[in-house]
Amino acid sequence: MTAETLAHLMKQSNRTVVLTGAGMSTESGIPDFRSSTGLWRNINPRIVASTESLQKNYEQFREFYQTRMNSLNNCKPHEGHLILADFEKRGLVSLIATQNVDQLHQQAGSKNVAELHGNIVTIRCQKCGKPHAKEQFLNNSICTYCSGKLRPNVVLFGETLPSEAWDRTLHEIHQADLVIVIGTSLEVYPVNQLPSMSKGKLVYINREQTSTSLQYSFDLVLEGSAGKILADVYQELGDFEK
Ligand code: NAD
Ligand code: APR
Ligand code: ZN
Repeated sequence: MTAETLAHLMKQSNRTVVLTGAGMSTESGIPDFRSSTGLWRNINPRIVASTESLQKNYEQFREFYQTRMNSLNNCKPHEGHLILADFEKRGLVSLIATQNVDQLHQQAGSKNVAELHGNIVTIRCQKCGKPHAKEQFLNNSICTYCSGKLRPNVVLFGETLPSEAWDRTLHEIHQADLVIVIGTSLEVYPVNQLPSMSKGKLVYINREQTSTSLQYSFDLVLEGSAGKILADVYQELGDFEK
């Protein structure tokens, strides 16, 4: 029933925005942050993923992100990522706004992706901003142009979100008549404000309801695995395209 309802809403919608979080990547083997097996269960993000950690305990910061970057090598998009890329091709999704930093949406073939929290695939110098190869960060190099520290292009706690991605998402959210939120606890500001900025219908796909998701009046809630639910919606849509 619910997958059929979502398929119906997608057919009716002229502009659909998908907002994803870490729950979209757990079926690719990447842990999320706040569920029972989440990363922040035994690591304090302020110690390893904040501007303070970059300045004051760079070795721990670098080790945290080197580990996460290396683990990405064994991860690939799962069926849910591929289905969202197919929906974009068929004119059923106009933008994926993601909090994820793994670039699995792009690897799956999605073209219009806004990386609201940046990514851990590309590297820059914290001081001069010049780009560097991933290997230089993994091999503990420092900037080749100045004495600066290298860091991934991820949005750290305390940093502002990349304005291009944020502005592009705001523009699409204001135009959307359907926003599908997938695999995020909606705990983190300002991304958690996005669903309420839309005049369109709101759908929540998540393993469970969270304290914040319960504050929204979603038109439809599908509790369960993102991959499985997207496969059911894919089935319901048949070969429909815009
Ligand atoms: P916060 O409570 O400090 O606020 C979020 C950040 O968003 C703030 O730095 C603020 O400057 C910025 N912001 C607020 N309103 C904005 C707007 N209208 N437009 C653009 N930016 C706006 O959040 P936080 O807990 O310090 O985390 C900062 C951000 O870094 C969060 O979005 C968080 O999810 C992200 N983060 C990412 C990772 C990662 O590994 N990808 C790790 C930690 C934090
Ligand atoms: N299918 C559906 N939902 C899932 C799945 C899955 N396979 N796996 C996990 N979930 C759900 C979890 O139950 C949880 O509610 O996804 C949600 C993930 O929430 P968080 O772990 O809080 O991750 P997210 O919302 O993306 O965190 C936001 O916080 O630390 C920062 O920058 C980091 O981008 C991250 C931001
Ligand atoms: Zn530099």
